[in-house]
Amino acid sequence: MKQADLIIAGCRQLLTCGGGIPKRKAELRDVGVIENAWIASHQGRIVYIGPEEGAKAEVKLSREGTRIDGSDLVGLPGFIDSHTHLPFAGSREEEFALRIKGYTYQQLAEAGMGIRTTVRATRQISKNELKALCLKRLDQMLQLGTTTAEAKSGYGLNLEDELKQLEVIREVGQSHPVDLVPTFMGAHEVPEEYRSRKEDYIDLLIHKIIPEVRKKDLARFFDVFCEKGVFSVEETERLVQAAQAAGFRLKIHADEFAALGGAELAAKFGAASADHLIAITEAGIQALARSTTVATLLPGVSFFLMQEKKAPARRLIDEGAVVALASDFNPGSSMMESMLFVLQLGVFTLKMTIEEALNAVTANPAYALGLQDEVGTLEVGKKMDLVLCEIPSYLFLVYHLGINPIKHVIKNGRLVVKDGRLIDTA
Ligand code: NIG
Ligand code: FE
Repeated sequence: MKQADLIIAGCRQLLTCGGGIPKRKAELRDVGVIENAWIASHQGRIVYIGPEEGAKAEVKLSREGTRIDGSDLVGLPGFIDSHTHLPFAGSREEEFALRIKGYTYQQLAEAGMGIRTTVRATRQISKNELKALCLKRLDQMLQLGTTTAEAKSGYGLNLEDELKQLEVIREVGQSHPVDLVPTFMGAHEVPEEYRSRKEDYIDLLIHKIIPEVRKKDLARFFDVFCEKGVFSVEETERLVQAAQAAGFRLKIHADEFAALGGAELAAKFGAASADHLIAITEAGIQALARSTTVATLLPGVSFFLMQEKKAPARRLIDEGAVVALASDFNPGSSMMESMLFVLQLGVFTLKMTIEEALNAVTANPAYALGLQDEVGTLEVGKKMDLVLCEIPSYLFLVYHLGINPIKHVIKNGRLVVKDGRLIDTA
């Protein structure tokens, strides 16, 4: 008999999202549904998942263990949000209101708003204030079912404030149940003081900030905003070469507005992911389809910027790319932390099937973060990170809009959200 300290008995459905990772094409359409399923964990790891008979024959709940009745619940892996700009200060609702009146994101950026507004606010705030903001956001994310998230710096744009953001990511990640994966994104924008000498900023990144972040081991990934008016393909290439040589894995904000070829560059460098891809070309689609670089689509951005143009999710999937969905949570182009909403946008706006979208918020983003052996699927040996929803079947996750179906959230085998409310885990 296997010992368990947590059992969820008789769930209406459990979605394992298991099997081979990463998932492409037809694999994306299988979410591994088990009806009337039991799942058990011990010390944070899954020890059993399957039918009742097996649970009764193989698993014994310890005396202090917790048993949850799953009879009106559908369970799935905790959401993995593989692209967020979590540690930002301030907000940009004025800019948002101007956009509703017809100004574009790029026009506002050129007028000195956009990312640079958030850089000013983030530089001004103390490390402790930034930590408090992040902890509140992580509480929200956890209540919404996100159990692992990537978090980028990139609103400091100088050594001191980039380190401040990265230290905040490290410290809140250690104290909060949501696991954080840190990304250094000093190449998010050219800071005000380097506007007329971008080359000097690139040199500063390459010769000073990249080595320093590395030395302090503050980030696993390096990310660049490869975009018209920000960093060109050539500049991105120089930056990613330096970052790769320093030991970072790569991510690229690619082909968001202009089709510069960021996707091809990401594939060429074996980047972990190419993100956005609203303007990706056919050559870019082919390059990603033949690579292990994850095409991370951020449907919140087209929605939030009210853009007709969307990332070609169907083409990417049909050609065989590894597709993931993420929030891009940030104050300018996607002020949303709900992965449930991102899942729904994947279906409604990118024409993904419900199953494809579900694998794209669980298994594939785990792969994009290099965490596929730990999280993203419900399989024996993996972390017990589980979202339990009060719905008749998993189809209701997308079919029934505007409600919160998430009843309980379990992180590392601990109940952290109960009946929709956060449990104080401190
Ligand atoms: O991923 N595209 C660049 N960076 C963010 C936007 C950041 C901001 O507007 O503050 C993004 O969309
Ligand atoms: Fe982003």
